[in-house]
Amino acid sequence: MEQAEIGLIGLGVMGSNLALNIAEKGHRIAVFNRTPARTQAFVESAGDLRDMIVPCATIEELVAAIRPPRPIIIMVVAGDPVDQQIAALRPVLAVNDIVIDAGNANFRDTMRRFKELEGSGLTFIGMGVSGGEEGARYGPSIMVGGTPESWTRVEAVLTAISAKYKGEPCAAWLGTDGAGHFVKTIHNGIEYADMQMIAEIYGILRDGLGMGPKEIAPVFAGWNRGRLESYLIEITATVLAADDPKTGRPVVDIILDRAGQKGTGKWSVIEAQQLGIPATAIEAAVAARVLSSMRDERLAAELAYGAIPLKFAGPRHEVLGDLELALFAGKIAAYAQGFAVMAAASKQFDWNLPLPTIAKIWRAGCIIRSQFLDTIAEAFGKADAPANLLMAPAFVEMMGKSQLALRRTVARAVEAGLPVPALSSALAYFDGYRQGRGTSDLIQAQRDFFGAHGFERIDAPGAHHGPWGGGD
Ligand code: 6PG
Repeated sequence: MEQAEIGLIGLGVMGSNLALNIAEKGHRIAVFNRTPARTQAFVESAGDLRDMIVPCATIEELVAAIRPPRPIIIMVVAGDPVDQQIAALRPVLAVNDIVIDAGNANFRDTMRRFKELEGSGLTFIGMGVSGGEEGARYGPSIMVGGTPESWTRVEAVLTAISAKYKGEPCAAWLGTDGAGHFVKTIHNGIEYADMQMIAEIYGILRDGLGMGPKEIAPVFAGWNRGRLESYLIEITATVLAADDPKTGRPVVDIILDRAGQKGTGKWSVIEAQQLGIPATAIEAAVAARVLSSMRDERLAAELAYGAIPLKFAGPRHEVLGDLELALFAGKIAAYAQGFAVMAAASKQFDWNLPLPTIAKIWRAGCIIRSQFLDTIAEAFGKADAPANLLMAPAFVEMMGKSQLALRRTVARAVEAGLPVPALSSALAYFDGYRQGRGTSDLIQAQRDFFGAHGFERIDAPGAHHGPWGGGD
C-alpha cells in the first residue's frame, strides 16, 4: 500500500475530525489510537475518505506506514498524555521526523519539550488549533510555534486544511518554541472574556428586563448583522432559540448555571500577571466561571441576602441600543488586553510575534472569529502601529463612540444588583488607562510611610522620602 504523508495519534473528537480534514484535502494519513476499537470505528465511519486513511494498531505500525521524514500530529489530552506519547515515539522515530503537538498545551510545557528533544534529531512543533469540532473537520485556525524550517516542511498540508478568510489561509508560523501554544492560550483567554461579557448582557436582558430566551435570541441575531458580527454572537442567538426535546422548554432554561474550564483561561491570567500586563476582563471572566461552580454557596447566599431589589432602569429600546454598544466597548478593551499580553510575551520570550498576522488568522476558523479582527489586523498592520489597541486611531474613534453606553450599562447593572464583572472590569481598565493623573501618588506615599520605599517627585528627579519621620 502507498505510504502515508502524515500521521495522527489520538482519535478523540478533535483528532478524528482533523484526520478527516487532512484526508479530504488529498493527504494520505496514518492514524493510531490507544484503544484499537476506536481506530476501527473511525475508519468504518470515514465513508469515501476511507481509502486515504491507514489504520494502525501499534505505534510501530504507524511509524512504518508513513513516508520519512515523518510528520506526526499528537492530538491527546494536554499534560502527561503528551509526554507519554512523545516518550513512546522517540525510540521508533528517525532523524528529521517531526512531532507536532496539536493539543491545548501550556506553552511552558511546550518550551520544556523543545529543550528535551534538542539534539535528538527530532523536530518538535507546538501547534494551537482553534475551531472546535467543526473547525477541525472543515477548517480550523492554526497557530504554529517551532523553527522556521519545520514550518516550511508542514506549511502545505496545514494551510490546505486551515480555514480561509476571503481566500487567505488561517494558518501561520508565529515564532519559535512555545509561540503557537502561547497565542492559542491568549485566544482562549479572549474567548473567555467574550463569552462572559455576552453572558452578562444575557443576564441583563433576562433578569433586568424580564425577557425570555425566545425574545432575547432575535436581539443577538440582529446584533450579529452589525458591528458585533461574530461566531460567538451567532451561536448565542441559535442556542437561545433552541428547545429541549424532553421538556419543550428553552434549552438554556434547563442547563445548570455552572461553567466548566480546562485551564487555558487561567493560564492567560497567570501569564498576564507574570508579564505585568493588566488583563482584567479575562481575569474577571475566569473568576466568574469559578464563582459559577460554587452553586450551593450561591443558593445559600441568595437566601441570606434576598432577591434583587431593582429592575434595570431605562426605556427598552434605549437600553437595547446601549447594550449592543456596551458589549462592543467591552470587547475592544478585552482584545486590547489580550494583544497587550502577547506583545509583552513577544519581547520576554524573543518571539517577535506578528500581531497583524495573529489577528488575520483569527478572522476565520477559530472560536473568536469575527469581522472585528479584520479591523484589528489593519490597526496593527500600520507602520506606526500603537503599543495598545486602545491607541489605534480607528479604536480611539470606536471606543469614544461606545464608552458612554458601557458606562450607563455598568451603572444600571450595579444599581439593579446584576453582576457584570467582565464589563465593569473592562470599563475600569479603560478608565484607568485613559487617566493622565491617577491616584498612585497616594499608594507611593503610603509605601514610603510604612516601608521607606521612596517615591519620585513631579518636580525633581531621583528617589525621595516624605516628611513622616526620617528621609529628605
Ligand atoms: C477553541 C476552543 C477549544 C476548547 C477549549 C475551551 O479554540 O477551539 O477554545 O480550545 O473549546 O478547550 O476551553 P474551556 O473548556 O476551558 O472552556
